[in-house]
Amino acid sequence: MSMVYLDHSATTPLDPEVLQAMMPYLTEEFGNASSVYGLGQRARQAIDQARDEVAGFYGVAAKEVIFTSGGTEGDNFAFQGIARRNRDRGRHVITSTIEHDAVLRSAEAVERDGFEVTRLAVDRFGVVDPEILRKALRPDTILVSIMHANNEIGTIEPIRELVAVTREHSDAYFHTDAVQSTGKIPTMVDELGVDLLSMSAHKLHGPKGVGCLVVRSGVRLEPQMLGGGHERNRRAGTENVAGIVGLARAVGIARRDLDANTVHLTRLRDRLIAGILDRIPHAELTGHPVQRLPHHASFLIEGVEGESLLLQLDMEGIAASSGSACTSGSLEPSHVILALGYPRERALGSLRLSVGKGNTDADIDLVLERLPHMVARLRLMAPISAA
Ligand SMILES: Cc1ncc(COP(=O)(O)O)c(C=O)c1O
Repeated sequence: MSMVYLDHSATTPLDPEVLQAMMPYLTEEFGNASSVYGLGQRARQAIDQARDEVAGFYGVAAKEVIFTSGGTEGDNFAFQGIARRNRDRGRHVITSTIEHDAVLRSAEAVERDGFEVTRLAVDRFGVVDPEILRKALRPDTILVSIMHANNEIGTIEPIRELVAVTREHSDAYFHTDAVQSTGKIPTMVDELGVDLLSMSAHKLHGPKGVGCLVVRSGVRLEPQMLGGGHERNRRAGTENVAGIVGLARAVGIARRDLDANTVHLTRLRDRLIAGILDRIPHAELTGHPVQRLPHHASFLIEGVEGESLLLQLDMEGIAASSGSACTSGSLEPSHVILALGYPRERALGSLRLSVGKGNTDADIDLVLERLPHMVARLRLMAPISAA
């Protein structure tokens, strides 16, 4: 049975063009970029070229790109690196209640270090209101970290407006987690206006375990990885040459194909949303109806558990995801869905379908044909009291 993969917000298949670009650096071009002989210097050149490509993609200078091991590291580095380096200027940071755990756990870490953290509430669609941010800003605020687009509900945050408010009322740095938005919607750093931006290659058909943090010149940031003088003394560790080359190829392809992909993804996404809302009674779209990622469809389906639905889908060869996670035998609803204001039982019925450039209309037809039956069966078998 062939698989229908509808979980591109979790990860994406490696683009064959990316693999091709990486192959030499996984085989004969294995040099350490710090070595002085030719093999090492060719690795250095590959990294330099990759850095130029990534910098061009975000519209920043090459020296403003720091390669990392992915989104988790980028978020940790930005959040904790800013807090540690700027504690002399203030001990207050602001984030939102719907951030990725990489940011939320970093917020807890700086709290343990004596910082005060304000977690901004979001509205029913998951949007952070610039007015609420304005009220939270203080003279001692040193960092605002709000994601560009949410992984569970697809909502795109009004980053430009949030940055404008921050600039008007404070000297705080602004970080955005652009892991989900990169390659899907425009992410030019000057247009967003942010000081720091983190991303991850595996969300846009690049390899896993590599990403970058964009840090604008002049931003005071404490290194988290200590060791050699790599990445201009900001992130130690022998460079992941093949990964970095793959990341650069992936952003190059994303840039080249952005318009065509947007049309394709949006069409499939809209078919999924309309079809599911039409065919499944008491299903509701989560996240913003318009300001959302082009590939992202997320729902709450009353009277079922998302996890049970995932198992049924898997049996039919369909890969999807649900925000809830099974921890120590009990289902925990996602913090994002709860932050939207839904009660626990309702939040357990969350389902995320995220399409990719390889998906076809036939994939969507299959889901629209099978899903209503699965939901009906589950509602009969294991009804959850409708909230
Ligand atoms: C919004 C967001 N931030 C951060 C991450 C973490 O990225 P990585 O998997 O590269 O560590 C993810 C991945 O799920 C994400 O969706």
